[in-house]
Amino acid sequence: MIARRAFGVIGLGALTLSLAACDGPQSALSPGGRDADVLASLFWIMLIGAVAIWLLINGLFFFLTRIRPRAMPRRAAEALIIGGGIVFPTIVVAGLLTYGLSIMPDQRAVGKGTRIEVVGEQWWWRVHYWPEGADEPIVAANEIRLPAGTRSEITLKAARVIHSFWIPGLGGKTDMIPGRVNRMSLEPTETGTYRGQCAEFCGDSHALMALNAVVLRPESFDAWLGRIARPAGPPETELARKGAAVFLSEGCGACHAIRGTAAAGRLGPDLTHLASRTSLAAGILDMTPEALAAWITDPDAIKPGARMPGYDHLAQAEMTALVAYLEGLE
Ligand code: CUA
Repeated sequence: MIARRAFGVIGLGALTLSLAACDGPQSALSPGGRDADVLASLFWIMLIGAVAIWLLINGLFFFLTRIRPRAMPRRAAEALIIGGGIVFPTIVVAGLLTYGLSIMPDQRAVGKGTRIEVVGEQWWWRVHYWPEGADEPIVAANEIRLPAGTRSEITLKAARVIHSFWIPGLGGKTDMIPGRVNRMSLEPTETGTYRGQCAEFCGDSHALMALNAVVLRPESFDAWLGRIARPAGPPETELARKGAAVFLSEGCGACHAIRGTAAAGRLGPDLTHLASRTSLAAGILDMTPEALAAWITDPDAIKPGARMPGYDHLAQAEMTALVAYLEGLE
């Protein structure tokens, strides 16, 4: 009795937890876009169908073994096997296949407006925005922004190994494969911040390869894109100017670009508007001075295998200045 009650409590707890996990910024079941909406409906239809069939089969099993445990006439038994074993599954599977195929063309519809190119790197995302007619991209990293109500085209590439691009609240997932260009399009309907995650094992820090997708109203998106297209403004405080000098003398510019300065490296993420991003280290840390200092001091402790070297040799004053400079890159 006690054991049964304990099982009941555990079961109820697990159900509550699993339902709670259906909500939030990284859930395919709280859709904020057209594609995610269709996929969520597909999921619910499949789930309801699966539960109905499960109840039917187990009901029959229960009925025939406990309620009427008698031998069936041969004809009835044959009809049950042919009907339940061949006809019923054929109809159900054909119906599901037809429904599944019917939603595919919409998922592949071509986007318009600004195209976004995302490249999977060693646990971060290189992001290029290509406004219509542009011959040069606007370079960003580790976050994408999309206009609500527009279908945007996203091209997906990978630098060295396979990754997979997935923002569950906005749509399905698509692999990023070295040497190939894959396409997807997303049509967010509700503004807000959605969390994405690399969905293909890509090495030590695969689980730490995330990104935020920020959906803006179209006019806010245009204003934002215009702002990040500009080079970085000069450092405004004495401390930030010292930090800019530390950035250059430490050679950070060999890997990172800050447009408008001598830093033009392309190995690591572009930092021109770093401080305006919603996260640091590809969706892992909040954009705070403490997190910046911790990341620069020892990236490997936060993201094992990250290619950025640690800068634990910097004096406290140098680190404070460097962080002040980076914090000013809005
Ligand atoms: Cu990138 Cu997993």
